[in-house]
Amino acid sequence: MSDNRPIGIFDSGIGGLTVAHAIRKQLPMESLIYFGDTAHLPYGDKSEAAIQAYSVKIADFLHRQGCKLLVIACNSASSAAYELLKEYIRKIKIINVIDPMVNWVSQHYEGRQVGLIGTRRTIHSGIYARKLAETGRNITLRPLATPLLAPMIEEGFFNNRISHEIIAGYLSSPELHNIEALILGCTHYPLIRNEISAYYNGEVAILDSAEIVARTVAEYLAANNLLNHQTPAPDRFLVSDYTRAFELATRIFFGREVRLEKQTLWE
Ligand code: DGL
Repeated sequence: MSDNRPIGIFDSGIGGLTVAHAIRKQLPMESLIYFGDTAHLPYGDKSEAAIQAYSVKIADFLHRQGCKLLVIACNSASSAAYELLKEYIRKIKIINVIDPMVNWVSQHYEGRQVGLIGTRRTIHSGIYARKLAETGRNITLRPLATPLLAPMIEEGFFNNRISHEIIAGYLSSPELHNIEALILGCTHYPLIRNEISAYYNGEVAILDSAEIVARTVAEYLAANNLLNHQTPAPDRFLVSDYTRAFELATRIFFGREVRLEKQTLWE
């Protein structure tokens, strides 16, 4: 059995390429269709209704491209639109970036204090706390909205003096005192993982969902006989608004520069 249909992945922009990159590494025989909604970026400050409307349109498009699985590679969209998308697209599995992380944390951090940083949308939704509570494990979540970080990274500010200052400003907040691990609740943040780890002198575990989500995708495909064993079709990278700056930034997020295609979903 071999299933050569692509895996559909979407994000508000190019941050989700960190997840796509982990999936590419874990599953080299699969082909990917990535959609970055660069016309509507950032999602982190949008209303739930707006993110739902964008996500339905994108998921519908990817489904019509014949994808065998959809990955919501964005915490903001996972928190606002996952439940709706599950109802809307019933024929294929949808994997979000929050549930695999919640499962992992619940298994490894019982009785401990865990910090969470992400966009306002993700943090104010309370979704991580709710899902962690549902696991029945005793984990104290310490959330903090860090809205400057995603635009800072998109603008290329990381590993420099300005990013150090902004990161230190957030991480020194009382909300994050005495944590033993920190969830990177935004798919942009793997790019500043080393800076965050350095702030804590390596003493706080930094939890990045990309690898965990890629493993979840691999396990699901294997368990459902959906793996591809033939030569895969080339990956495609679509954006709702094209700029050369986005294309150049893909190198940082995906590990290599990719050719972005403009895909009009909104007139
Ligand atoms: N990639 C989005 C997330 O994971 C953050 C960027 C945005 O606000 O659009 O939440």
